[in-house]
Amino acid sequence: MASGLSPAVDVAVIGAGAMGAGIAQVAAAAGHRVRLYDSRSGAAASAVLNILSALNKLADKGRMSHDAAEAAAGRISHIDELAECAGCGLAVEAIVENLDAKRALFKRLELVLAPDAILASNTSSISVTAIGAGLRHPERLAGLHFFNPAPQMPLVEVISGTATAAAVSATLMATAASWGKIPVRARNTPGFIVNRVARPFYAEGLRLLSEGAGDCATIDALIRESGGFRMGPFELMDLIGHDVNYAVTRSVFDAYYGDPRFTPSLQQLELVDAGFLGRKSGRGFYDYREGMPAATASTLAHCAPPRVVRLFSGTLADALATRLAERGIAFDRLGFHIDGRCAEADGAVIYRTDGRTATARSASSGLPNTALVDLALDDMRAGRLGITVADQADPSTLSAAAGLLQAAGYAVSWLDDLPGMAVMRTVAMLANEAADAVHQGVCSAADADLAMCKGVNYPLGPLAWADELGIGTVLTVLDNLAQAYGEDRYRASPLLRRKRQSAASFHQTQEAVHG
Ligand code: NAI
Repeated sequence: MASGLSPAVDVAVIGAGAMGAGIAQVAAAAGHRVRLYDSRSGAAASAVLNILSALNKLADKGRMSHDAAEAAAGRISHIDELAECAGCGLAVEAIVENLDAKRALFKRLELVLAPDAILASNTSSISVTAIGAGLRHPERLAGLHFFNPAPQMPLVEVISGTATAAAVSATLMATAASWGKIPVRARNTPGFIVNRVARPFYAEGLRLLSEGAGDCATIDALIRESGGFRMGPFELMDLIGHDVNYAVTRSVFDAYYGDPRFTPSLQQLELVDAGFLGRKSGRGFYDYREGMPAATASTLAHCAPPRVVRLFSGTLADALATRLAERGIAFDRLGFHIDGRCAEADGAVIYRTDGRTATARSASSGLPNTALVDLALDDMRAGRLGITVADQADPSTLSAAAGLLQAAGYAVSWLDDLPGMAVMRTVAMLANEAADAVHQGVCSAADADLAMCKGVNYPLGPLAWADELGIGTVLTVLDNLAQAYGEDRYRASPLLRRKRQSAASFHQTQEAVHG
């Protein structure tokens, strides 16, 4: 295995904005002398002051010793000329996200640095291959993609362009690890790993909203309280900023020649056009202006517990059995399967969603009183579950199904009857995108999961989640979504089919990657 750069190697960081300053801090804390440069006069000097204050704060909070903070601070300096990078063994670029600017910078750096110095770009969306093209030694350039804020976020994507030497990416992998980061390898493709695999997290939320499945607060609550994600898609997009989030989606969509899987949302464009950029502008999907009430998730009012409850098989039935027993609610447990149903509550027949609407399912089964329950990360521990009922259902179906879930201690949110509900279709599409990234040789299955857990805090890697759910289940959901919408957007990755055909999993020899 390659070793990382020795702390004796000096590091140049070019661009002293949010990312450059954070990267400089990380490298200095790891023992390197760091020279920070910015073309805007005074920017590097003031960034150094900010880094010193950040290091002091870390020491005050006990996250590092005062001695270590002082030593790291002593290793960072600002430089006023690019020529002063001479002698650095690694240059990390974090300037404006513009191909011409980055190319011009690296051309100048080549003239300043020794031939064996490594060049790294922190670009989040520009092709690493294109940045390196035209260099005398493009083989020494790679992507080194930190996440914001760099000192706190553990993930670093190490991206190899077409010309990048294997030894260079291996050294960067080992260096990032020695800096306390979790590095993953990615081939140079639009969005690399995280910005590509995460697209459906936003896209499915936006789609559900535009088709009236529920409001933002309800969908967010389901994604958090059932799905186990730290934030729902709307609150997260409001935090990231719609200008930024829309631009990333747009650039991935364009880079994949308009693949419908990445189609940007008109609803999000409306927000961008209105200047409702999210938290930073006071309004986005939510209204952050002073005095405005906080939006709350819709939760169904209390329904009477059903008189007759039968539980069948599956994780939801198991969780219901445990939770109902804990609460002293009587039920029958049946040791056989009927058409995959999870439970019956009075007249309602309850299934977990398989990507069909309740209405479609009811039409094919001939059972009008059909209710569906959304996916949860952990049925035993979930606080909230989503529920929907068929258009054909008698009004008592919703109250019986909701009454059952409420009796088991869940808050219950109703969604309109759209295919795949909220959590299930989001997770299926995330797993599909991760599988396709692996299929196309962008990254390994292990790195896809690690990237999503460590880069964007997913509660479980999408592929580990697919393994846990069953790859056949994920495929069924995707195929049903594709059937319901008739769109290529929901086409299943060939790798998912192959895994199901061979009865293999993504993580056969390793532990599921939990966040
Ligand atoms: P920023 O706007 O905060 O900082 C960029 C800095 O580069 C500015 O101080 C600017 O004066 C300086 N600069 C511009 N052109 C320059 C040049 N030719 N030579 C030297 N300095 C120059 O931007 P931020 O957010 O720090 O992003 C920097 C890079 O990191 C971009 O490529 C961005 O895509 C990438 N990135 C950003 C993330 C984020 O969340 N902000 C996350 C991961 C990557």
